[in-house]
Amino acid sequence: MDNIALWYVGGRWVHPHEATLSINDITVLRGYSVFESLRTYNRRPFHLKEHLDRLSRSAELIDLDVPYTRDFVAEIIHEVIERNFYVHASIRILVTGGESEDGILPSGKPTLAVLITPLGERDMERFARGSKLITSHLQRVSPEAKTANYVAAVRSLKEAMRHGASDALFVNEQKHVLEGTRSNFFVFRGDTLITPRNGVLMGVTRNVVLELAQGRFAIEERPILLEELISIDEAFITSSSKEITPVVQIDDIVIGGGKPGKYTYELEQRFIAMVERGDF
Ligand SMILES: Cc1ncc(COP(=O)(O)O)c(C=O)c1O
Repeated sequence: MDNIALWYVGGRWVHPHEATLSINDITVLRGYSVFESLRTYNRRPFHLKEHLDRLSRSAELIDLDVPYTRDFVAEIIHEVIERNFYVHASIRILVTGGESEDGILPSGKPTLAVLITPLGERDMERFARGSKLITSHLQRVSPEAKTANYVAAVRSLKEAMRHGASDALFVNEQKHVLEGTRSNFFVFRGDTLITPRNGVLMGVTRNVVLELAQGRFAIEERPILLEELISIDEAFITSSSKEITPVVQIDDIVIGGGKPGKYTYELEQRFIAMVERGDF
C-alpha cells in the first residue's frame, strides 16, 4: 500500500492508511454507492467532464442524491492532482450512500472520497501478447450505472484466473457478449468495428475510440452474439487504465490466428497520438 499519497475522504486530507469510512455507511453494508475511475496523463485528467457526467447519471439511475456540486468535485480532483506528485495516475471518485439508522435506508450525508494511485508508462508489450479472456454468465446489477457493487466482476475475474485468462466478458441470457469486468468490448469483422450499445456501462474510452474510428472504419453499435465470435477478425477491450488492449482468445476461440490485429493496432496508434497532442 502506497502510504505517501494524499486522499480526500469526507472533508479531510489523509494518507491511504488513515482513510476510513463508517461501518454504518450503506456502501459497506449494502453496496449502495456510485463511483468513477479516471486517469491523468502528465497531471491532466482525461475527459473529466465525461466522467462527472457519468457520475451524475449513475447516481440518477440508482436514485442516490449527491449533495456535492460538479464544480466542487472537479475542484477536489484538481487539488488531489496538485497535492500528489504523480505524472500519470488513476483517480477514483466515490460517493457513498451515507450512514443508515435502520441499516438499509440512508439517513446520513453521503461521503465524498477522491483517491489517487500512480500509474506507470504505457505497456506496449500487451500489443505483442494480446489477452486471453473467458466468458461469464454472471450479470452486473444496473449495468449502465457505475456502482461499487462489483460482485459479478470479482467472481468472474477469479474464474478467469483459474483458467489462466486475464479477464472475463459478461454474456447475457440472450447470448449477447456485453463487456469486460472493467472494460468495453469491440470486435472487427473486416473493416467494420462493432461494439454493443445497450446493457453496458458507457465507457469514456469506448466513446473516444468510436470518435477515433469515425470516417476510417464502418461502425456498428449493436449486440454481438456469442456465436458470432467464431467469425470475427479482431477483438479488443477498452478502459481508462488499459486504453485499447487486444484480445486474441475468448474461451476456446482463437482470434486472428492468436495475434493482435492490425486495425486494433492502428486505433491504438491514433489513441496514443491524441494523448500526445494533449487533445482531451
Ligand atoms: C463494467 C465496466 N465497463 C466499462 C468500463 C470502461 O469504462 P471507461 O472507459 O470509462 O474506463 C469500466 C471501467 O471501469 C467498467 O467497470
